[in-house]
Amino acid sequence: MILTDETKRALALAPDDCLMTAAEKAALIGVLHQLRPERVLEFGFRFGGSCRWFSEFAREVVSVDLDPACADRARALPNVRLLTMRTTEAAGVLRREGRRFDFMLVDADHSRASVCADVAVGLELADVVLCHDSYNPVVRAGIRQALAGRDVYCDLDFVPGCLQSNGLWGGFALILPALDRTARYNYDPRVSAQPWLRCVALVRNPAATYVDTGWGRLIARARGWWKKRTARRE
Ligand SMILES: C[S@@+](CC[C@H](N)C(=O)[O-])C[C@H]1O[C@@H](n2cnc3c(N)ncnc32)[C@H](O)[C@@H]1O
Repeated sequence: MILTDETKRALALAPDDCLMTAAEKAALIGVLHQLRPERVLEFGFRFGGSCRWFSEFAREVVSVDLDPACADRARALPNVRLLTMRTTEAAGVLRREGRRFDFMLVDADHSRASVCADVAVGLELADVVLCHDSYNPVVRAGIRQALAGRDVYCDLDFVPGCLQSNGLWGGFALILPALDRTARYNYDPRVSAQPWLRCVALVRNPAATYVDTGWGRLIARARGWWKKRTARRE
């Protein structure tokens, strides 16, 4: 078998600027291959790594990123319309245009409030939503907040993330706004390792694990105080 450049990129054997693990990328490509979405919405372009794949599978892609440096990179993808603005602003633009999307990737600001707002946009405008970094406790809390009180299908560990050097990151949550919770396939023997790994992450990277929560702020403040105190002594 000959490994083409395309295959190498998909298997993370060649650079493609995608800020995802090989497993996540393979899952994303698999989902795109299965769904064949015509219109894709992406929140979080960065280097265009994930957008490149959307551009390949879909007829039309709208990607949103507040960083103006993304404009140059997006020019290489002719079917991509880049909106250089905050996702909250972009949501307003897309609503006014009456847009709908077959597929959406949420991967912009990873704070709880932003994830919640971005997932809420997905529930409103897209048929299938993947949310990156669903293993992260803060991102997870944002997804849960967006779905609170709604009977919507969500698999928080559709692709599980892992314990990384800076805490729990990665993974994809799969959200299907038109389906309810009972739509899940019955055979699901999985027990999520996320809550247990969260305890390990809490010891290894307390501030990173609970960043954006009261605990995270308290730990960060205590660490700052301790650093200053030890610096004064030296
Ligand atoms: C993790 S990167 C996206 C990676 C990309 N999806 C990939 O896998 O190749 C997150 C991007 O979101 C952008 N971003 C962060 N907060 C944002 C916001 N509130 N609105 C729009 N873009 C935002 C950042 O500028 C950054 O480029």
